[in-house]
Amino acid sequence: MNPEKRVYEYARRNFNEVYHCTLNPDGPGVVRIFLVPPVVEGEEGGDVVASVAIINGQDVIPVNTSWAILLIEFIRAVNRYDGKAVTDQDLEQIQKATCKAVRKVYPFISKKRLRNDIYTIMKTFAQVARGQEVDEPIEYMPLGEYAPFMRAPHRMDVMVSAMEKEGRWNCNQKCVHCYAAGQRQAEEAELSTADWKEIIDRCRDAGITQITFTGGEPTMRDDLFELIDYARWFVTRLNTNGIRLTREYCDRLRGVSLDSVQVTFYSYDEGTHNGLVGAPRFADTVAGIRNALAAGLNLSVNTPLCTANRDYVKTLEFLRGMGVAYVTCSGLITTGNAAKPESERLQLTADELGQILREAVEFCHANDMEINFTSPGWLEPGFCNELGLPEPSCGACLSNMAITPGGHVVPCQSWLGGAVLGDMRADTWHDVWYDARCQQIRAASAKMDGTCPLRKHASAGEDANAGTPAGAVTAGVDALAGEHASTNEGISAISNEGVRTPTAANAKGAIA
Ligand SMILES: C[S@@+](CC[C@H](N)C(=O)[O-])C[C@H]1O[C@@H](n2cnc3c(N)ncnc32)[C@H](O)[C@@H]1O
Ligand code: SF4
Repeated sequence: MNPEKRVYEYARRNFNEVYHCTLNPDGPGVVRIFLVPPVVEGEEGGDVVASVAIINGQDVIPVNTSWAILLIEFIRAVNRYDGKAVTDQDLEQIQKATCKAVRKVYPFISKKRLRNDIYTIMKTFAQVARGQEVDEPIEYMPLGEYAPFMRAPHRMDVMVSAMEKEGRWNCNQKCVHCYAAGQRQAEEAELSTADWKEIIDRCRDAGITQITFTGGEPTMRDDLFELIDYARWFVTRLNTNGIRLTREYCDRLRGVSLDSVQVTFYSYDEGTHNGLVGAPRFADTVAGIRNALAAGLNLSVNTPLCTANRDYVKTLEFLRGMGVAYVTCSGLITTGNAAKPESERLQLTADELGQILREAVEFCHANDMEINFTSPGWLEPGFCNELGLPEPSCGACLSNMAITPGGHVVPCQSWLGGAVLGDMRADTWHDVWYDARCQQIRAASAKMDGTCPLRKHASAGEDANAGTPAGAVTAGVDALAGEHASTNEGISAISNEGVRTPTAANAKGAIA
């Protein structure tokens, strides 16, 4: 068999699932690797485009086919030791097994070369995971370019908790800006524990690698730990208002291996915070933030900005005093409660928001805090880059999608008033992903032009809450994820000199 045919044959047989392993599970320096192969298309013996490696749910790196094959075999070899501590001798065996399997595809590459490649990949991934400077050159490749080769988004936001239950409000706050409040799809009857487990299984089969538990308020569900535990294979995140985060609750979250938690916090000023969340919960949320930090959870704090909390730098000072290192902020998504006059009259102008962000970035840089702005469609293109931040971009039907409390798939967690794209339990993932509207929204997101259609609708005086008319879909909004690198997701490319075959990525020069 000629070399191209061997590679193609390998890809056809093995590039149909996501491969995952965890190195150093008990830390320090855990490295979670997901290898997501591309859709294999085209003529037998033709090129196979780059795969994607996702490190700790944050960094998305294209790896060419030779590295992908090496990684798949390495992951398989590592996973034979599942749950056991790996000794130096075992490592030797892992390397041997990997080399043996890879040489079936690349028989002319020396064992020494392959060992070097394994070492280089692992060193690079560990450096990426720890936020260190990498020795190998990494280049940026926009996720939009990769869209045709994706089978699923990287992240699924599961809205396990509904805004209403049996006609009654189902959250321990009543936020003035809540984009989900009053939205038809946020009020669906909640699925059972067993139903959500089935959905989690289906997400894995679809090739999704990260799950965010959100709502509504996900901590309203008593089975939340069970669900997070069930989703251990994934990178798991939790979006919460923090009220229920007692120390014991946080320890339990650690016990079920939650990867990160995001708490919403509006202001250092008790009255302002309580006013915006519609409940006297300031002290509980502050305690929740402290408890999450004390328990060693990976925490970020999100603040949607409006005129009432425009003194954001004071909130940052307050958070810094508590030891918070990661913060995100956003403009307001104008759906749900945020489409009502009470919220609308608190909306900032783009100039005001830009000024607040500029001061916030200065403060964070001076105080060793990491900040991200997550709202596409608000600021002039290039503004965030000028401040040294990634430009936010809509990830709907591309990097992320959402599942409603009743199990329906929607383009993103704020797109809750229109038609659904499918039923996660009843439909096949293939049908959902290739649904005509899903493809249309993905194509618009893939332009990565920094717009947010829901925002456009609202500013044009239309009712964003009414959903999107069929055929008029342009893109989705991924504005509030507030998770690092999630709304500004691009793919970086690592060059590698070892075993190497042409890929679409390096043909375009993305892999040096
Ligand atoms: C709907 S909430 C669900 C999770 C949880 N109940 C909470 O409040 O954190 C998800 C995230 O969206 C943010 N959010 C809610 N309404 C928003 C809006 N209109 N614009 C921007 N962000 C919003 C919240 O602050 C939170 O960070
Ligand atoms: S934003 Fe979160 S906490 Fe506030 S009302 Fe909505 S679901 Fe509840």
